[in-house]
Amino acid sequence: MSKQILRCTVNGRAVEIACEPWHTLANVLRNDLNLTGTKIGCDMGTCGCCTVHIDGKAKLSCLTLALECQGAKIGTIEGLNEYEMHPLQKAFAECGGSQCGYCTPGFIMKSCAMLKENPEPTREEIKAGLSGNLCRCTGFMKIYDAVERAATEMREKSVPAPVKA
Ligand code: FES
Ligand code: FES
Repeated sequence: MSKQILRCTVNGRAVEIACEPWHTLANVLRNDLNLTGTKIGCDMGTCGCCTVHIDGKAKLSCLTLALECQGAKIGTIEGLNEYEMHPLQKAFAECGGSQCGYCTPGFIMKSCAMLKENPEPTREEIKAGLSGNLCRCTGFMKIYDAVERAATEMREKSVPAPVKA
């Protein structure tokens, strides 16, 4: 089957990419757009490393065919911080929530979508919200601490959701 053109917005930029029907969004972001912040861990929907925003919702880009995203607004970790670090990125760095860092973009993108829906989550709600994301460094406590810290800062500073995504 021949390639088809995907037209969508990625981090606020209109893009047109020729895609094979079987190309996943994760592969297109990394290989065609050089947005390698999105990681591929399991490539089968079990680790959350590849989480991006599609029309404002957290989605697994390894389970999303690129051509399903016609006209969609896609946000990746690269789109979170145009001028300065997003509070989630800062909190992950300060709390030690990012260790090897491979899972970190997925955790941050999932947390960002979660905090948009629930700006003041309990620790249990954070755990439940991030239950689809795996950190193989076993550092979950620091990740939960980071999300709590970022949530507090975002409430205090009224940080809006990323406009680009
Ligand atoms: Fe997509 Fe693991 S790479 S869920
Ligand atoms: Fe190492 Fe998450 S920081 S896998």
